[in-house]
Amino acid sequence: MNKEVAPQMVCIVGTGDFGSSFGKRLLRSGLAVVFGSRNPKRVSNRLPEGAQVLSVRQAVAACDIVVLAVRQQHQAALEGQLSSVINGKILVDVSNTEKTPVQGSMPNTSQLHMLYPQTSIVKAFNMISAWSLQAGLDDACKKVFVCADDVNAKRKVMELAWIMGLEAVDKGSLANAKELEEYTHQLFPQWRIPMRVTLGLLLVFYIYTIIQDVLFSYFEHGMDRSFRLAISLPNKAIPSVALTLLSLVYLPGTLAAYIQLRRGTKYSTFPPWLHNWLLVRKQLGLAMFGCAGVHVIISLAIPLRVYVYWKWVLSIKQQIDGNWTTTYTSIDFWQRDLYLIFGILGFSILVLLAITSLPSVVNSLSWREFHFVQSKLGWLSLLLCTAHTICYGRLRFLRPESYHWGIPPLYIPALMLPCITISLKLPLLLPFLNRELRMIRQGWTRSRPRAEIEMFHS
Ligand SMILES: Cc1cc2nc3c(=O)[nH]c(=O)nc-3n(C[C@H](O)[C@H](O)[C@H](O)COP(=O)(O)OP(=O)(O)OC[C@H]3O[C@@H](n4cnc5c(N)ncnc54)[C@H](O)[C@@H]3O)c2cc1C
Ligand SMILES: NC(=O)c1ccc[n+]([C@@H]2O[C@H](COP(=O)([O-])OP(=O)(O)OC[C@H]3O[C@@H](n4cnc5c(N)ncnc54)[C@H](OP(=O)(O)O)[C@@H]3O)[C@@H](O)[C@H]2O)c1
Ligand code: HEM
Repeated sequence: MNKEVAPQMVCIVGTGDFGSSFGKRLLRSGLAVVFGSRNPKRVSNRLPEGAQVLSVRQAVAACDIVVLAVRQQHQAALEGQLSSVINGKILVDVSNTEKTPVQGSMPNTSQLHMLYPQTSIVKAFNMISAWSLQAGLDDACKKVFVCADDVNAKRKVMELAWIMGLEAVDKGSLANAKELEEYTHQLFPQWRIPMRVTLGLLLVFYIYTIIQDVLFSYFEHGMDRSFRLAISLPNKAIPSVALTLLSLVYLPGTLAAYIQLRRGTKYSTFPPWLHNWLLVRKQLGLAMFGCAGVHVIISLAIPLRVYVYWKWVLSIKQQIDGNWTTTYTSIDFWQRDLYLIFGILGFSILVLLAITSLPSVVNSLSWREFHFVQSKLGWLSLLLCTAHTICYGRLRFLRPESYHWGIPPLYIPALMLPCITISLKLPLLLPFLNRELRMIRQGWTRSRPRAEIEMFHS
């Protein structure tokens, strides 16, 4: 786009945090700035050097582009000063609503349009903070979403953003203004459900271990094992949550596969619950990675615990007093080493998955490479972490003393969802089902003759 047609002088109405920072940035970018203020004399000494300060009416009259840096609730009060001079100009609305917009409410741009029907209203810059405009854009988000009904006006404002060193993104017509206004009220919207699932599982599994371990010991044997609440029980609940979350990442793709096989096409929508589940797999995966990381750190710190020293010393003393030695078979050593190596390998792959979810890394991978890591290696990590847990628990589930008040040790419920997920995946690996699924995912539909598609793919 031709940057030479950029406006020479920009008017900013409002000399508060945003207006003055915006003006400073424009001046640094080589543009001229005129501020429109209710009281030019009072504010002139705190505005960036090089900018003019006039009354609102004079400033607006001098420019084609007017940036309205006034809070939403005060905009209507300026109508008297703006109405006669603003006609035919581009009015840039940077405002955000103070409270979360209620459903059905009008976006601010519609209210401005009613006040000034003869102007070209452009919604832009509302997601850039005054702080980042002042401090420099290196550490800040540079994206400016711009929407407007007047295409020429939108182009001019996008040029202005580029000149300021920002990345303008065309967000279409003013119908999208409400979405932009609502966006600033959202706090990690995609993380809401994954976080609730993670915290809910943590609570359930933690309470489970408290009942199974601390309360059982207290009521049945009169032993106070409450100190286990700090490290031992979290290091049971957290990895169990991690393993459950990991299966929740790979279960929806498997369910999607069965639906696609049943319908014989990928060109039909999934039920909403499955669609939404598929969309939060990344967040579930990263929450899972956080839990797995905490489990690994705690596990590596276990030898530092006084309780562990005490148990070792007690065991040695009992062996000396009783003149006996714990005997281990080669199989015992195998199981103990295998559970550790499976955990370590599983976690190493998860590190790879987490790295490939960084936007900069995603951009450097082809779709096939990304899919290989996320799907193929991801499944491998699920298998390894499940094997880690099975080898850790070994045959404890067969021993009646492992069941406290009839409740099985936590590793049993922790293994349930991974085992279901893996069992559902296995039939999909059968050559005839796998082949059909691959064809469906490449665009084949069962109603079309298969030979035709096979010819196409060969
Ligand atoms: C640490 C970690 C980091 C992760 N980071 C990411 C990440 O950055 N990005 C990411 O996407 N996932 C991420 N995940 C989640 C997971 O690894 C991927 O989603 C992975 O691709 C799932 O593989 P899959 O084989 O189960 O399913 P896929 O092969 O991805 O999907 C199965 C099939 O379901 C259908 N499908 C999938 N999604 C949709 C959809 N939205 N709408 C309609 N149909 C659909 C398709 O037909 C697809 O072929 C991460 C997981 C972990 C543990
Ligand atoms: N601050 C940010 O980081 C940020 C980020 C994105 C968007 N925004 C948006 O930018 C707009 C301005 O925000 P701000 O933080 O700069 O607000 P602010 O510090 O309160 O400044 C608003 C300015 O509006 C002018 N104004 C005109 N009529 C007014 C009235 N009746 N009462 C009070 N002031 C009046 C004042 O300038 P004069 O006294 O010179 O007239 C005042 O300095 C808002 O719509 C906000 O949503 C702000
Ligand atoms: C470097 C990698 C890992 C190491 C060193 C490790 C170590 C351990 C240790 C020491 C235990 C026993 C804890 C106890 O008795 O309190 C354990 C149990 C467990 N681990 Fe890991 N682990 C690793 C990775 C993982 C990963 C990635 C997962 C899952 C995603 C996982 C899931 C589990 C589960 C579910 C248990 C059983 C918890 C219980 O019910 O007591 N581990 N691991």
